[in-house]
Amino acid sequence: MNDTERLAEVREKLAITQHDDEILWAMREIRFFLRSQNCSIKTVLEYGVDGGGNLALMANLIDSDGLMIGVDLAITEGRSAAIEAVAQRKVCLLNRSSIDPETTKLIATMVPGGIDVCFFDSLHTEEQLDNELEQALTLISRPAVLAFHDIGIGTQRHNVNGELVPSTSIFWDKIRKDERFDGYDAKVANKEGRCGIGLLWLEKGKEAR
Ligand SMILES: C[S@@+](CC[C@H](N)C(=O)[O-])C[C@H]1O[C@@H](n2cnc3c(N)ncnc32)[C@H](O)[C@@H]1O
Repeated sequence: MNDTERLAEVREKLAITQHDDEILWAMREIRFFLRSQNCSIKTVLEYGVDGGGNLALMANLIDSDGLMIGVDLAITEGRSAAIEAVAQRKVCLLNRSSIDPETTKLIATMVPGGIDVCFFDSLHTEEQLDNELEQALTLISRPAVLAFHDIGIGTQRHNVNGELVPSTSIFWDKIRKDERFDGYDAKVANKEGRCGIGLLWLEKGKEAR
């Protein structure tokens, strides 16, 4: 089933509305990059699962024997079952905080070969993303792709204390120029109010930084 057909199925079965054009774009780019690096996709990690729409769709990236891991502070059992049923890949959902180092240790035991793709879609603040990136960088293998949802949401977002702080957009402007990565691409907000995805490439054969 191609991504567009899969999206229709995910929408119907999980009763959600997805930001379709940007996520489909991101999936195409991720596949293209990792194929160019001779890498098959065995593991995808998502921080911030919520309704599971992106997770179930991105499971389509993964080889049939691969694993999709989702981390969210608040996944109900019923939702987990619904997401697993539609994803058609092995799915492991962790009801934990993405920025807790114990979560990272647990994930590391599940993926000895490392993570091929990490999708960031939890709290949309710069601080949260800094913390999640620090965790994710210990989990990824090279080559890999890091994908950041909602890079075009405006410059401020509320943190967990209700304070307005720098957002995903500020994080993206900083991180896309970071020398630890081998390049970036982005699809930014369009007139329908969709909020964009940024992709960072990590090529193979480089030292972990
Ligand atoms: C924007 S929603 C995710 C949308 C989801 N990717 C989708 O496709 O529908 C943000 C989610 O991040 C979760 N979240 C916020 N802070 C988190 C944290 N520290 N660790 C894990 N999940 C977190 C929230 O519980 C919420 O479900």
